[in-house]
Amino acid sequence: MILTSSRLYSEFLGIELENPFILSAAPSTDELDIARAGLDAGWAGLILKTTSLETTVVDLAYPMMSSFNDGENLLGMGNIDLISAYHINEVAKRASILKSEFPYKMIAASIMSDSKEGWQTLVKKLKDAGIDLIECSFSCPQGNVGEDPGKMLAQSESATEKVATWVKEAAGDLPILIKITPQVTDIVAIARAIQSSGCDGITASNSIPALMGIDIESLTPIPNVGGRSTYSGLTGAAIKPITLRTIAEIARNLPGFIISGNGGITDWRDSVEALAVGAGNIQICTAVMLNGFGIIEDLTSGLDNYLKEKGFNSITELVGEALPMLVNHDELPREEVRSFVNNDRCIGCGKCYIACRDGGHRAISWDHQNRLPEVSVEKCVGCGLCLLVQPVENCLELRKVN
Ligand SMILES: Cc1cc2nc3c(=O)[nH]c(=O)nc-3n(C[C@H](O)[C@H](O)[C@H](O)COP(=O)(O)O)c2cc1C
Repeated sequence: MILTSSRLYSEFLGIELENPFILSAAPSTDELDIARAGLDAGWAGLILKTTSLETTVVDLAYPMMSSFNDGENLLGMGNIDLISAYHINEVAKRASILKSEFPYKMIAASIMSDSKEGWQTLVKKLKDAGIDLIECSFSCPQGNVGEDPGKMLAQSESATEKVATWVKEAAGDLPILIKITPQVTDIVAIARAIQSSGCDGITASNSIPALMGIDIESLTPIPNVGGRSTYSGLTGAAIKPITLRTIAEIARNLPGFIISGNGGITDWRDSVEALAVGAGNIQICTAVMLNGFGIIEDLTSGLDNYLKEKGFNSITELVGEALPMLVNHDELPREEVRSFVNNDRCIGCGKCYIACRDGGHRAISWDHQNRLPEVSVEKCVGCGLCLLVQPVENCLELRKVN
């Protein structure tokens, strides 16, 4: 059962959303039937996989998927996918079909080109198809306009502003999001360039260029594509902290500028975090690819319960609520905290002792006979390393001492 709750409702760039969860541009939005299934499952909208002009060659290589594991859990996913093999005429047709079948959902499309004429043609065709919003992928290596070759568009402030201005010129009132990469020195400068272009907001962010690993038997980098490999786009849980920082940094410096949060959001708790640092809605790809469209049930019920329990009447009230507590390092309060062992919860594993001995301040001594750690209040600086290795919740805790 999909929850429809007034708390989850919001307006995003003038588009009504029954909940904040949108399917991001990816394989799940590339085929009409699959996209339909996502909307039927309860997603509030989707962004069709990035499309291009009919003349653009999309030369895919397989296998394209790989993962980054800790042995048991998939922490991150890698892909060497490119944009959609479906070109603009087909995608515009599909957008218009979806809009007629799902008038109350957000139907958006993603585009990429390499010339002013190309970008503007794509925008006009989608506008004619009755699309609600266009997202521009400025975070694919193929998207540059000739300056700074090899770079993604969103790695150059001047290219970002120039191309975003072309897009907005053609789009007029149609909302435009620019999808950026977090892999830049100054994310705020890129965000400012987008704001100056007149575009409506930012999708923060796309997958992050990564080398997924090396098969140590054959020494072939992963994924192995006929004995060769290349860099992948890293997505999923592993990139959430980078996404949160990217959203927060833009929201702190450009208050009120619209952000669609994307990258590593896997469950409703992650979505709370992204909203709390300034995202206006949430896009998800990897969690759906791995677990199916059905995760929308847990996302919506989990977020709604959270809002109710915390006394928020709408997701809008949650947006940006964590930002006042986020400051620069030199503005942090200097508190004296120390680690304390809760003997009744200690299982005598010795992990805190080892971590403090070899990675901390040698403030934890070890009673071999009773298998008990003891913290020296004089030596402990309160770094918190021991808490990271605790196997039992609250077997150690930090307490203020002054
Ligand atoms: C296989 C695959 C294909 C993707 N294709 C596109 C694409 O065509 N256009 C785009 O803007 N992003 C594309 N993405 C990126 C996703 O839209 C999303 O930004 C990224 O996966 C981060 O979100 P996540 O951690 O929830 O997966 C793709 C991601 C994957 C895994």
